[in-house]
Amino acid sequence: MKAILVFIDGTICDASQRYHLGIGTPEFYRREEMLKDAAVPGSVQCLQELAQRYQLIYIGARPVSTLPYTEEWLAQSGFPKGHICLGETPAERLALVRDLREKFDFVAGVGDRWDDNQLHLEIGCLSIILQEHAGDWAGVPQRILNYQRRQPVVTTMLKRKSIRRYLPEAPPDEIIETIVRAGQQAPFAGQMGSVLLARNKPNPYHAPLLFTICVDLHRLELIMARRGWKLAMNNLSILFFGIQDAALMAENMVIAAESVGLGSCFLGGTPYEADRIIKEYRLPKRVFPLVQLVMGYPAEDPPPRPRYPLDYALFEDAYPELSEELVARAMKEMDEGYLKQDYYRNLDAMVELEGGQEERYTYDNYSWTEHMSRKWGQWFRSADELLEQLRICGFEISTGSEETRAAKSSENEG
Ligand SMILES: Cc1cc2nc3c(=O)[nH]c(=O)nc-3n(C[C@H](O)[C@H](O)[C@H](O)COP(=O)(O)O)c2cc1C
Repeated sequence: MKAILVFIDGTICDASQRYHLGIGTPEFYRREEMLKDAAVPGSVQCLQELAQRYQLIYIGARPVSTLPYTEEWLAQSGFPKGHICLGETPAERLALVRDLREKFDFVAGVGDRWDDNQLHLEIGCLSIILQEHAGDWAGVPQRILNYQRRQPVVTTMLKRKSIRRYLPEAPPDEIIETIVRAGQQAPFAGQMGSVLLARNKPNPYHAPLLFTICVDLHRLELIMARRGWKLAMNNLSILFFGIQDAALMAENMVIAAESVGLGSCFLGGTPYEADRIIKEYRLPKRVFPLVQLVMGYPAEDPPPRPRYPLDYALFEDAYPELSEELVARAMKEMDEGYLKQDYYRNLDAMVELEGGQEERYTYDNYSWTEHMSRKWGQWFRSADELLEQLRICGFEISTGSEETRAAKSSENEG
């Protein structure tokens, strides 16, 4: 039988009624006080259900001396029976888990903090991190089932969605590094993508991690200079390659994050804010911030968002003439899908009509095709603004660079 590691404190047990006694004091761990703790809503029912298919192993951040009351509290709250182990410090719990993994075949761990995630990594199982004292227990059995049935990469990709609410805890460095390594492993034209990381920096969705993915020619030019070469390609062409490298890297990071239980969301205003980002991160010339990506443990679990029907996306042999019927069907699928999720109402994201036009939509009928039309039909930031940001980063875009290319090329040859 597969096993599930369940964290007690904060995950299934809400001990906040004891906080006034002073966390860690002898009073805090008095039997009578501990027995008054509340079970986190939904946790008992969920674990009862899971206990029919899995062995439950409870782990708590409390002294071993509290084992009898812990057992008593679990029983009186209606939790199913299971092996219980207790360790007050993270190091003790790590040692316990190392011992447990020899004895049990873990499929998942459920906790509420990033250090629980570290325990799950140690066991090598699915890591489910719920909100402290308020976890979404209803979704847990399905997440475990999906994990067991998974075809890992494709399933992860098919259920990915942008996340716009996060828990405050940041993932451990080990996970962050793995995600960036996965980003680096994307196909590349010239490794022209690099990543800046900021922790706990203000961002629209209050995510603990903020990445800035850049088109980076600085590093390549340093290497070429050491070999006695100069970059000869014109800026527009090299930017196309650089944007592809950086974008593929960014998306690899998104999928890697999703696969370890993290959520993310891109922030697309980045290129227009290059001058600010250069100062903030002290970027050298020839590094252009392409897109930002917020990331962290999700505090929401929305369904994946709709996409066009496949016959509006995949064309074999030749690009077809798109019939009225197909266009209408694609629009219907997108609009109905977004309305069903109440997506724009939840985000309160109706784009205002410019020029004093009368508003005829409400969130009952405002959906994706109207949103896209308003967004891309009214948004006219000038090309000059972007060209200026590129120029500041050392990417002058003009056909004149052909001359420079010829000059550099002859230098290289010489
Ligand atoms: C280049 C790019 C820029 C984006 N910029 C933003 C943004 O500024 N704010 C935001 O909330 N979402 C942003 N997104 C996320 C999109 O809104 C989201 O991917 C799209 O609506 C599809 O939804 P899904 O990712 O949940 O499937 C951006 C996505 C991309 C690829």
